[in-house]
Amino acid sequence: MDSAAFLLLLCVSAGTLLRARGSDSMTALYGETITIPCNSGAPAPADLMFVKWKYEKADGTPGDLLIKQAQSDQPTVQATDDYAQRVSIDDKYNLLITKATLSDQKTFTCMVVSGTNLMEYSVTVSVSKKPTSVEIIDKADVLQKDKPVTLGTCVATDANPRAEITWTKNGQLMVADGKAVVIIPSLKVNPATGLSTTSSTLQYVATKEDADAVFVCVSTHEMITEDAELEPFAIHYPSETVSLQIMSKKPVVEGDNVTLKCNADGNPPPSSYFFHLKGQKMLVENSDTYTLTSISREAAGEYKCTLPDNEKMEDTQNIVVSYLDLNLSLSGKVVKKVGEALSVQTEKSGSGDVKVSWTKNGKTVAEPQADKLSFADAGVYVCVASIPGVTRRKSFELVVEGKPVITGLSKHRADDAKHKVLTCEAVGVPEPSFTWSVNSTDEESSYVNNKATHKITVVPRVNLTVTCTVSNKLGEDVRTINVSSVFKEESEKKESQEDSDDQAKLIVGVVAGLLIAAAVVGLIYWLYMKNSRQGSWKTGEKEVGTSEESKKLEENNHAV
Ligand SMILES: *[C@@H]1O[C@H](CO)[C@@H](O)[C@H](O)[C@H]1NC(C)=O
Ligand SMILES: *[C@@H]1O[C@H](CO)[C@@H](O)[C@H](O)[C@H]1NC(C)=O
Ligand SMILES: *[C@@H]1O[C@H](CO)[C@@H](O)[C@H](O)[C@H]1NC(C)=O
Ligand SMILES: *[C@@H]1O[C@H](CO)[C@@H](O)[C@H](O)[C@H]1NC(C)=O
Ligand SMILES: *[C@@H]1O[C@H](CO)[C@@H](O)[C@H](O)[C@H]1NC(C)=O
Repeated sequence: MDSAAFLLLLCVSAGTLLRARGSDSMTALYGETITIPCNSGAPAPADLMFVKWKYEKADGTPGDLLIKQAQSDQPTVQATDDYAQRVSIDDKYNLLITKATLSDQKTFTCMVVSGTNLMEYSVTVSVSKKPTSVEIIDKADVLQKDKPVTLGTCVATDANPRAEITWTKNGQLMVADGKAVVIIPSLKVNPATGLSTTSSTLQYVATKEDADAVFVCVSTHEMITEDAELEPFAIHYPSETVSLQIMSKKPVVEGDNVTLKCNADGNPPPSSYFFHLKGQKMLVENSDTYTLTSISREAAGEYKCTLPDNEKMEDTQNIVVSYLDLNLSLSGKVVKKVGEALSVQTEKSGSGDVKVSWTKNGKTVAEPQADKLSFADAGVYVCVASIPGVTRRKSFELVVEGKPVITGLSKHRADDAKHKVLTCEAVGVPEPSFTWSVNSTDEESSYVNNKATHKITVVPRVNLTVTCTVSNKLGEDVRTINVSSVFKEESEKKESQEDSDDQAKLIVGVVAGLLIAAAVVGLIYWLYMKNSRQGSWKTGEKEVGTSEESKKLEENNHAV
């Protein structure tokens, strides 16, 4: 510093100076370089001698920072404190302070000394810092209906000035009312940096409708508004009603598995229930159902479900068990003989009006009762008893046994005329066997509905009387039939049913024979008449006769 400037500086320090009009203020960013303009950045006067920057200490005394001579490139740093390393000045005489902190919130003064004047311009600096982070800590897991729960604490860290925190629910500002909404604010200032950390704890009494609510913490700072959001909470609340359901189809029938289900409307649902089974109490854990296996008619009655943590919560259901018993006095295979009587006892009991019907071989019939059984009564009888929802079936098979009876014995001439087919038919149970009095080929038999049929093929060389014998363990039946020879019948064409035709042919044959006989007699008579007429008319004429006659004639002539 040259001596002239120094003198002037002393002179200035003596205090004959003009104050600038008021003082400006500015805001700098924390950690950045503060650029403080001198005289709002107006150009320096033409006769400028030097510019000096100083600041006001906490105790009101001035602190020197630096001086820059108009002719000199380099400023002279006067500061001896922390500012010595941090201050500089640019060519527009702006004061530059690096790494702004809150301790830089002071009034800085720029003194402009010219040949004709001395001016001072003050700038009050404030340093601003947005929160390092805005977040919610200590978040709740679930909300409780009608109980205050701390949702979380919103923290806006290290700001200047301090951030203000508010809360919104579904976009609406939440106002603390000391009951449903309690907001507990707090503020901490870092003694080293002076930065403020603002916290706000939200306590809230939820309702069921808050299940989808979105809670947001809003941090408001002069530089930025930030927020942090809470995911919607599950709302827990105790059960207000309990209901017992019977899951099985209705009506419940004896033997069914019946599942009881208890529902409670709390959230979360209860994990255990009491099922009261006709006075007996069963604890069921980790399930809401209880199954009555193969329920009996005695198990009908009142069932109840309650909650272990609040047995006043209950619901009851009455279970009606339908049942139906059906017993028949006959079952399985029932063997009777033709002519015997049949009677069936039906025992039934049910929880309602029992309807009973019968079928025989699938067709509806009346209840089977008979004084005298016939083969036709045989079959499978099913008794069907029912009440709404329940049907019971019992059945028996009736077998009617009897000695065989031949119902038909017939003969039939086969198409090729070389053999005859004899058919013997009989009814009988058990299945009868057939024996014939002739040898045969191509036996064929069937047994359907107690009716047996047996066919044989025979080639009778003579007229036969054929016997069909039908027998089973209960007896036998015999019948015969006359069968004429197939060879004799060549001319007769057809058998049995064509006997009248045969007689007609016989008559025709006899008539024809008589006519032929008459013709022969006529011819003989004519020849005789002719011979005797020749004998009388041709005497002397050469006779045409037998050789014997000729000889006799010659002997006669010789003797004459
Ligand atoms: C009833 O439950 C038992 C045992 O769980 C099972 O064996 C039976 O088949 C069930 N009966 C019916 C009709 O579902
Ligand atoms: C049917 O028979 C069973 C056993 O034989 C018996 O326990 C039941 O009581 C009978 N039912 C009826 C309706 O008679
Ligand atoms: C049947 O044939 C056997 C030999 O095949 C014979 O011995 C028997 O006499 C025959 N019976 C009649 C009735 O023709
Ligand atoms: C066989 O029976 C027929 C009538 O059906 C009779 O005309 C005939 O003379 C009988 N033949 C013998 C050999 O008995
Ligand atoms: C079978 O022929 C005999 C005579 O050969 C006769 O007595 C009998 O009545 C005839 N039977 C039938 C069923 O025609």
